[in-house]
Amino acid sequence: MSSTGGLFITLEGGEGAGKSTAAAGLAARLRAEGQEVLLTREPGGTKGAEAIRGVLLDQDLPLDPLAQTMLHFAARADHVAHSIRPALARGATVICDRFYDSTMAYQSYGQGVALADVRALIRLIGLTPDITFLLELPEEDARRRLAARARGTDRYEEMGEAFFTRVQKGFAAMAAAEPGRFVKIDASPPPGLVVDALCQALRGRTGRR
Ligand SMILES: Nc1ncnc2c1ncn2[C@@H]1O[C@H](COP(=O)(O)OP(=O)(O)O)[C@@H](O)[C@H]1O
Ligand SMILES: [Mg+2]
Repeated sequence: MSSTGGLFITLEGGEGAGKSTAAAGLAARLRAEGQEVLLTREPGGTKGAEAIRGVLLDQDLPLDPLAQTMLHFAARADHVAHSIRPALARGATVICDRFYDSTMAYQSYGQGVALADVRALIRLIGLTPDITFLLELPEEDARRRLAARARGTDRYEEMGEAFFTRVQKGFAAMAAAEPGRFVKIDASPPPGLVVDALCQALRGRTGRR
C-alpha cells in the first residue's frame, strides 16, 4: 500500500493497447465495491496540466525531445500536487492512465533523452505508483484497434515503426527492472477479461479486493 494512504495505480503501454478502456472498467469495478476512485490521465488531470497537454499534443508545434520531457514533468508536478496527492491522502484509490513511465518510454527510449535526466525529474516528482499495469498487445492488433477508434493523429504518428519498437522495448526493459511494481497484462482478450486480470493482480498485490 502506498505510504500516502490510498492505492496509486498506473496503466502503461502503447497507443491502442486499451489503457483508457481498462482504466475506466477498473474504476467502475472498484466504485461498485464502494471505493472512492480518482480516474485521471496524463498528460493532464488539472487545469494547468491540461493547458500543457494542449501544447504537447499540438503536432504543428515542433518541440525538442528535452522540451517535451520537461513539459510532461511540469504538467505532472501540478497533477501530482493538486489532484493525485490530495486524493491519496484522503484514502482514495487513484487510477492514472499513463504516468512517468510513458515519458521514459517515449522521450528516452523512443527519442534519445538521457535516462539519467528523466530519472532526475522522477526524483523531483517524488511519488512512485504502487502498481503499474503494462498492457501488452502486438503492434498490428493495436493498429487495428486505432483504425476503429475515431480520433485525430498525434505527434508520434510519423515517427515510424523503429520508433514504436524502441518504445515497446523500453517498456519491457522498465518492467524487467522493477518487477515488484510492474505487472504485465495480456491486453488481447475482450475488455471485461482484461479488467478481470487487473482485479486479480490487485488482489494478489494488496491481499484484499
Ligand atoms: N480489450 C479490448 N478488446 C477489443 N477492443 C478494445 C479493447 N480495449 C479497447 N478496445 C478498443 O480499442 C480502441 C483503443 O482503446 P483505448 O482504450 O482507447 O486504448 P489506449 O488508451 O491504450 O490508446 C478503442 O476503440 C477501444 O474501444
Ligand atoms: Mg488512451
